[in-house]
Amino acid sequence: MRNESPVLQACQDEDDFRTTIRNCLRRKPRSIPPKYFYDARGSELFDLICTTPEYYPTRAETGILDQFGAHMAKLIGTSCALIELGSGSATKTPLLLRHLAEDAAYVPIDICEPHLLQSTRRLKTMFPAMHMQPLCADYTRLPHLVLEDHKNLRRVIFFPGSTIGNYAPDEAVQLLRHAAQLAGRNGALLIGVDCKKSPAMLNAAYNDASGYTAAFNLNLLVRIKSELGAQLDPGGFAHYAYYNTSPGRIELHLVSRQRQIIRLDDESFHFDKGESIHTENSYKYSTREFELLARKAGWYPKMLWADRKGLFNVHYLSQSPTEPRNLPRHAY
Ligand code: AVI
Repeated sequence: MRNESPVLQACQDEDDFRTTIRNCLRRKPRSIPPKYFYDARGSELFDLICTTPEYYPTRAETGILDQFGAHMAKLIGTSCALIELGSGSATKTPLLLRHLAEDAAYVPIDICEPHLLQSTRRLKTMFPAMHMQPLCADYTRLPHLVLEDHKNLRRVIFFPGSTIGNYAPDEAVQLLRHAAQLAGRNGALLIGVDCKKSPAMLNAAYNDASGYTAAFNLNLLVRIKSELGAQLDPGGFAHYAYYNTSPGRIELHLVSRQRQIIRLDDESFHFDKGESIHTENSYKYSTREFELLARKAGWYPKMLWADRKGLFNVHYLSQSPTEPRNLPRHAY
């Protein structure tokens, strides 16, 4: 693959995983950061979730990128490095890449190396002339991003999928600040954000009839058992997801079906029946709520694209309060 230089940085290592899980199980109420969902099986299950009729965000965002990708690329302009945070299988990315200028470079960043390399290979066959530099890393921990070959390119952070919703609002502001640092002074941010909507629709999206979300959630226990050698029965826990209206977030939990013990190394963690491990939050934002959050992190809203049903937003923000001028701020 000409022009592709895999930079394999600090991927999640076992020590990090073990220490985090041990600390999470010691604390009460118990919670585990959702980034640990994404081993190879977890990433596969997430892709399956995205195909279910109930999980609308992927279809809505894909539709927006398909319809407005050319407009987005026009605002992004020439000579850009598109840096995708948590690129995963990057299924929506071609909808943008196909409109980018010839001198654009693509830098996907993901924690799961096999997924990262596989998706970069696929994109490279679709866009052979585009320079691609995959980076295996936890994007939240990247202190800076050196792009030796692309010093003169304007950096545009691409963060689709509403992953920003998986951070609590104060963490989301921190992450958006971090994105601003990675983007640099003239940088921009193109970000997908899931909107507030009926609890019925939200609850269905995280309790799909095929059971992929349940398997995705439970896979975390499978990982803890197989990778860390913990003694536990994943079948002793049940997937539970619901929309918690006042914080405006979906919550995922693993609920103990009975009194039981998880053993990790030389420690025992007791669970009562009904006790849960909180595994994920997925915050939903109105346009105003998200723009406020982004402003706190130093971003200026420039453009907004949405689907006709108002399920999902794609925001374009820049570091500069002025350009681009004289543009309508919304497109549907
Ligand atoms: C990756 N993230 C935006 C998904 C979400 O909707 O919060 C993860 C997910 N969890 C359960 N289903 C999907």
